[in-house]
Amino acid sequence: MDLNEDCLINYYEFAVFAENWEGPERIPPAVPTGLLAWAGDGMVTLDWADNTESDLLGYNVYRSETSGSGYILLNPEPLTASAYVDTSVQNGLTYYYVVTAVDNLLNESAYSSEVIAAPDSITTIVIQENEPGFIGVFTGTIDSNNAGFTGTGFANTNNAVGMYIEWSVYAASAGTYQLQWRYANGSTNNRTGAVSVGGVTQATAISFPSTGGWTSWTTSALVPVSLSAGSNRIRLIAEMSEGLANIDWMSVTGVSPLPGS
Ligand code: GCU
Ligand code: CA
Ligand code: CA
Repeated sequence: MDLNEDCLINYYEFAVFAENWEGPERIPPAVPTGLLAWAGDGMVTLDWADNTESDLLGYNVYRSETSGSGYILLNPEPLTASAYVDTSVQNGLTYYYVVTAVDNLLNESAYSSEVIAAPDSITTIVIQENEPGFIGVFTGTIDSNNAGFTGTGFANTNNAVGMYIEWSVYAASAGTYQLQWRYANGSTNNRTGAVSVGGVTQATAISFPSTGGWTSWTTSALVPVSLSAGSNRIRLIAEMSEGLANIDWMSVTGVSPLPGS
Protein backbone atom coordinates (compact mmCIF):
# COMPACT_ATOMS: atom_id res chain seq x y z
CA MET A 1 0.00 0.00 0.00
CA ASP A 2 2.86 2.39 0.78
CA LEU A 3 3.75 3.03 -2.85
CA ASN A 4 6.23 5.85 -2.24
CA GLU A 5 7.65 4.21 0.91
CA ASP A 6 7.21 7.27 3.14
CA CYS A 7 5.81 5.07 5.92
CA LEU A 8 2.43 6.77 5.55
CA ILE A 9 -0.65 5.41 3.79
CA ASN A 10 -2.33 8.37 2.16
CA TYR A 11 -5.76 8.47 0.55
CA TYR A 12 -4.42 7.89 -2.97
CA GLU A 13 -2.45 4.79 -1.92
CA PHE A 14 -5.45 3.39 -0.13
CA ALA A 15 -7.61 3.94 -3.20
CA VAL A 16 -5.12 2.05 -5.43
CA PHE A 17 -5.06 -0.78 -2.93
CA ALA A 18 -8.82 -0.93 -2.75
CA GLU A 19 -9.17 -1.03 -6.55
CA ASN A 20 -6.66 -3.90 -6.84
CA TRP A 21 -8.35 -5.70 -4.02
CA GLU A 22 -11.64 -5.60 -5.90
CA GLY A 23 -9.99 -7.02 -9.03
CA PRO A 24 -9.81 -5.49 -12.53
CA GLU A 25 -12.55 -3.19 -13.76
CA ARG A 26 -15.27 -4.90 -15.75
CA ILE A 27 -16.70 -2.03 -17.76
CA PRO A 28 -16.67 -2.86 -21.50
CA PRO A 29 -16.06 -0.19 -24.15
CA ALA A 30 -19.06 1.38 -25.87
CA VAL A 31 -20.69 -0.55 -28.74
CA PRO A 32 -19.09 0.59 -32.05
CA THR A 33 -21.38 2.71 -34.24
CA GLY A 34 -21.60 3.70 -37.90
CA LEU A 35 -20.73 0.30 -39.37
CA LEU A 36 -20.94 0.27 -43.18
CA ALA A 37 -20.14 -2.49 -45.69
CA TRP A 38 -19.26 -2.36 -49.40
CA ALA A 39 -19.35 -5.55 -51.42
CA GLY A 40 -16.78 -5.93 -54.19
CA ASP A 41 -15.49 -8.69 -56.44
CA GLY A 42 -14.22 -11.32 -53.98
CA MET A 43 -14.07 -8.87 -51.09
CA VAL A 44 -16.09 -6.93 -48.55
CA THR A 45 -14.82 -3.65 -47.09
CA LEU A 46 -16.05 -2.59 -43.64
CA ASP A 47 -15.67 0.76 -41.91
CA TRP A 48 -17.03 2.10 -38.62
CA ALA A 49 -16.58 5.02 -36.21
CA ASP A 50 -13.66 5.18 -33.75
CA ASN A 51 -14.31 4.42 -30.08
CA THR A 52 -13.03 7.05 -27.66
CA GLU A 53 -12.05 5.01 -24.55
CA SER A 54 -8.49 5.68 -23.36
CA ASP A 55 -7.97 2.00 -22.46
CA LEU A 56 -9.18 0.71 -25.85
CA LEU A 57 -7.21 -2.25 -27.20
CA GLY A 58 -9.04 -2.57 -30.53
CA TYR A 59 -11.95 -4.14 -32.39
CA ASN A 60 -13.22 -7.57 -33.34
CA VAL A 61 -15.06 -8.32 -36.60
CA TYR A 62 -17.59 -11.15 -36.73
CA ARG A 63 -19.31 -12.65 -39.77
CA SER A 64 -22.23 -15.00 -40.32
CA GLU A 65 -24.11 -16.34 -43.32
CA THR A 66 -27.32 -16.02 -41.27
CA SER A 67 -28.74 -12.70 -40.12
CA GLY A 68 -28.67 -12.20 -36.33
CA SER A 69 -26.80 -15.32 -35.19
CA GLY A 70 -23.92 -17.71 -35.78
CA TYR A 71 -21.22 -15.03 -35.91
CA ILE A 72 -17.61 -16.20 -36.22
CA LEU A 73 -14.62 -14.03 -35.24
CA LEU A 74 -12.55 -13.15 -38.35
CA ASN A 75 -9.47 -11.40 -36.94
CA PRO A 76 -6.93 -13.43 -34.87
CA GLU A 77 -6.06 -10.37 -32.73
CA PRO A 78 -8.01 -7.18 -31.97
CA LEU A 79 -7.71 -4.70 -34.85
CA THR A 80 -6.20 -1.32 -34.06
CA ALA A 81 -7.90 0.42 -37.03
CA SER A 82 -11.67 0.93 -37.26
CA ALA A 83 -11.80 -0.67 -40.73
CA TYR A 84 -11.37 -4.15 -42.20
CA VAL A 85 -11.18 -5.78 -45.61
CA ASP A 86 -12.55 -9.33 -45.71
CA THR A 87 -11.07 -11.23 -48.65
CA SER A 88 -12.11 -14.64 -47.32
CA VAL A 89 -15.50 -14.41 -49.04
CA GLN A 90 -17.06 -16.29 -51.93
CA ASN A 91 -18.78 -14.44 -54.76
CA GLY A 92 -22.50 -15.19 -54.88
CA LEU A 93 -22.94 -15.64 -51.11
CA THR A 94 -24.52 -13.15 -48.67
CA TYR A 95 -22.71 -12.22 -45.47
CA TYR A 96 -23.75 -10.44 -42.26
CA TYR A 97 -21.20 -8.55 -40.18
CA VAL A 98 -21.04 -7.06 -36.66
CA VAL A 99 -18.09 -5.53 -34.80
CA THR A 100 -17.23 -5.15 -31.11
CA ALA A 101 -14.72 -3.02 -29.17
CA VAL A 102 -12.23 -4.56 -26.69
CA ASP A 103 -10.25 -2.84 -23.91
CA ASN A 104 -6.82 -3.64 -22.44
CA LEU A 105 -8.38 -5.90 -19.80
CA LEU A 106 -10.17 -7.77 -22.63
CA ASN A 107 -13.61 -6.47 -21.67
CA GLU A 108 -15.63 -6.70 -24.90
CA SER A 109 -18.63 -4.59 -25.91
CA ALA A 110 -21.89 -6.02 -27.22
CA TYR A 111 -22.27 -6.48 -31.00
CA SER A 112 -22.79 -3.40 -33.15
CA SER A 113 -25.82 -3.24 -35.44
CA GLU A 114 -25.51 -5.72 -38.31
CA VAL A 115 -24.66 -4.92 -41.94
CA ILE A 116 -25.19 -7.08 -45.01
CA ALA A 117 -22.90 -7.54 -48.03
CA ALA A 118 -23.10 -9.78 -51.10
CA PRO A 119 -19.79 -9.90 -52.99
CA ASP A 120 -19.98 -10.85 -56.64
CA SER A 121 -17.89 -10.93 -59.80
CA ILE A 122 -17.72 -7.82 -62.00
CA THR A 123 -17.99 -8.49 -65.73
CA THR A 124 -18.46 -6.47 -68.90
CA ILE A 125 -20.77 -7.30 -71.79
CA VAL A 126 -20.71 -5.56 -75.18
CA ILE A 127 -23.99 -5.26 -77.09
CA GLN A 128 -23.76 -4.85 -80.87
CA GLU A 129 -26.52 -3.62 -83.16
CA ASN A 130 -27.46 -7.13 -84.36
CA GLU A 131 -27.31 -8.81 -80.96
CA PRO A 132 -29.77 -9.68 -78.17
CA GLY A 133 -30.20 -6.66 -75.91
CA PHE A 134 -30.24 -4.18 -78.82
CA ILE A 135 -33.77 -2.91 -79.34
CA GLY A 136 -33.38 -0.28 -82.05
CA VAL A 137 -32.77 3.29 -83.26
CA PHE A 138 -35.71 5.70 -82.95
CA THR A 139 -35.53 7.23 -85.43
CA GLY A 140 -32.56 6.27 -87.54
CA THR A 141 -30.77 3.43 -89.29
CA ILE A 142 -28.14 0.75 -88.82
CA ASP A 143 -25.40 1.79 -91.24
CA SER A 144 -22.08 0.39 -92.40
CA ASN A 145 -20.87 3.13 -94.77
CA ASN A 146 -18.24 4.59 -92.41
CA ALA A 147 -15.38 2.11 -91.85
CA GLY A 148 -13.81 1.24 -88.52
CA PHE A 149 -16.93 -0.09 -86.78
CA THR A 150 -17.07 -3.53 -85.17
CA GLY A 151 -19.86 -6.09 -85.52
CA THR A 152 -22.11 -5.52 -88.52
CA GLY A 153 -22.39 -1.72 -88.42
CA PHE A 154 -23.38 1.17 -86.20
CA ALA A 155 -26.51 2.94 -85.02
CA ASN A 156 -27.05 6.30 -86.71
CA THR A 157 -29.84 8.47 -85.32
CA ASN A 158 -31.50 11.09 -87.44
CA ASN A 159 -30.06 14.49 -86.67
CA ALA A 160 -32.64 15.95 -84.25
CA VAL A 161 -33.20 16.47 -80.53
CA GLY A 162 -34.84 13.49 -78.78
CA MET A 163 -33.69 10.81 -81.20
CA TYR A 164 -32.58 7.77 -79.21
CA ILE A 165 -31.07 4.30 -79.25
CA GLU A 166 -32.57 1.69 -76.95
CA TRP A 167 -31.12 -1.41 -75.31
CA SER A 168 -32.39 -3.94 -72.77
CA VAL A 169 -30.03 -5.10 -70.00
CA TYR A 170 -30.82 -7.73 -67.39
CA ALA A 171 -29.53 -7.43 -63.81
CA ALA A 172 -29.97 -10.34 -61.37
CA SER A 173 -30.27 -7.88 -58.49
CA ALA A 174 -30.57 -4.11 -58.25
CA GLY A 175 -27.28 -2.22 -58.29
CA THR A 176 -24.93 0.22 -59.97
CA TYR A 177 -23.62 -0.54 -63.44
CA GLN A 178 -21.28 1.43 -65.71
CA LEU A 179 -22.30 2.17 -69.30
CA GLN A 180 -19.87 3.03 -72.09
CA TRP A 181 -20.24 3.59 -75.84
CA ARG A 182 -17.86 3.26 -78.78
CA TYR A 183 -18.63 6.07 -81.17
CA ALA A 184 -17.53 8.27 -84.07
CA ASN A 185 -18.38 11.93 -84.41
CA GLY A 186 -17.17 13.47 -87.67
CA SER A 187 -18.78 16.83 -86.97
CA THR A 188 -16.87 19.57 -85.16
CA ASN A 189 -19.44 19.82 -82.33
CA ASN A 190 -19.51 17.85 -79.09
CA ARG A 191 -22.79 15.91 -79.47
CA THR A 192 -24.25 15.22 -76.03
CA GLY A 193 -26.78 12.69 -74.82
CA ALA A 194 -28.92 11.81 -71.81
CA VAL A 195 -29.49 8.34 -70.40
CA SER A 196 -32.82 7.09 -69.10
CA VAL A 197 -33.53 3.73 -67.48
CA GLY A 198 -37.14 2.60 -67.57
CA GLY A 199 -38.14 6.12 -68.62
CA VAL A 200 -36.38 7.86 -65.72
CA THR A 201 -33.49 10.17 -66.65
CA GLN A 202 -30.34 9.15 -64.77
CA ALA A 203 -27.61 11.14 -66.54
CA THR A 204 -27.43 14.16 -68.83
CA ALA A 205 -24.75 15.95 -70.84
CA ILE A 206 -22.81 12.78 -71.64
CA SER A 207 -20.10 13.94 -74.04
CA PHE A 208 -19.37 12.52 -77.46
CA PRO A 209 -16.74 15.03 -78.61
CA SER A 210 -15.61 15.20 -82.23
CA THR A 211 -13.36 12.33 -83.27
CA GLY A 212 -12.24 14.31 -86.32
CA GLY A 213 -13.95 12.07 -88.87
CA TRP A 214 -16.77 9.55 -89.29
CA THR A 215 -14.26 6.71 -89.64
CA SER A 216 -12.39 7.64 -86.42
CA TRP A 217 -13.82 5.75 -83.44
CA THR A 218 -13.22 6.05 -79.71
CA THR A 219 -14.93 5.18 -76.42
CA SER A 220 -16.92 7.52 -74.19
CA ALA A 221 -16.39 7.99 -70.45
CA LEU A 222 -18.03 5.43 -68.16
CA VAL A 223 -21.50 6.50 -67.00
CA PRO A 224 -22.82 4.96 -63.74
CA VAL A 225 -26.53 4.08 -63.66
CA SER A 226 -28.79 2.23 -61.22
CA LEU A 227 -30.43 -0.85 -62.70
CA SER A 228 -33.40 -2.67 -61.16
CA ALA A 229 -33.59 -6.42 -60.76
CA GLY A 230 -34.78 -7.89 -64.05
CA SER A 231 -34.74 -6.35 -67.54
CA ASN A 232 -34.04 -2.61 -67.82
CA ARG A 233 -34.79 -0.46 -70.88
CA ILE A 234 -31.84 1.88 -71.38
CA ARG A 235 -32.07 4.83 -73.77
CA LEU A 236 -29.31 7.11 -75.00
CA ILE A 237 -31.16 10.26 -76.08
CA ALA A 238 -29.85 13.07 -78.30
CA GLU A 239 -29.81 16.44 -76.53
CA MET A 240 -28.84 18.45 -79.62
CA SER A 241 -30.31 19.15 -83.04
CA GLU A 242 -27.38 17.27 -84.62
CA GLY A 243 -28.64 14.01 -83.05
CA LEU A 244 -26.22 11.53 -81.48
CA ALA A 245 -22.76 10.47 -82.58
CA ASN A 246 -22.73 7.23 -84.56
CA ILE A 247 -22.75 4.43 -81.96
CA ASP A 248 -20.78 1.22 -82.64
CA TRP A 249 -21.69 -0.57 -79.40
CA MET A 250 -22.68 -0.14 -75.77
CA SER A 251 -20.89 -1.97 -72.96
CA VAL A 252 -22.27 -2.66 -69.47
CA THR A 253 -19.98 -3.39 -66.50
CA GLY A 254 -21.21 -4.64 -63.13
CA VAL A 255 -22.40 -7.76 -61.34
CA SER A 256 -23.05 -10.30 -64.11
CA PRO A 257 -25.07 -8.12 -66.54
CA LEU A 258 -26.85 -9.96 -69.37
CA PRO A 259 -28.65 -8.87 -72.53
CA GLY A 260 -32.27 -8.27 -71.48
CA SER A 261 -35.46 -9.38 -73.13
C1 GCU B 1 -22.69 11.90 -92.04
C2 GCU B 1 -22.23 10.48 -91.66
C3 GCU B 1 -23.32 9.81 -90.85
C4 GCU B 1 -23.64 10.64 -89.64
C5 GCU B 1 -24.11 12.01 -90.10
C6 GCU B 1 -24.41 12.95 -88.94
O1 GCU B 1 -23.77 11.82 -92.93
O2 GCU B 1 -21.95 9.70 -92.82
O3 GCU B 1 -22.88 8.50 -90.48
O4 GCU B 1 -24.61 10.03 -88.86
O5 GCU B 1 -23.10 12.63 -90.89
O6 GCU B 1 -24.10 14.14 -89.05
O7 GCU B 1 -25.00 12.53 -87.95
CA1 CA C 1 -26.74 10.94 -87.62
CA1 CA D 1 -21.20 -2.20 -84.15
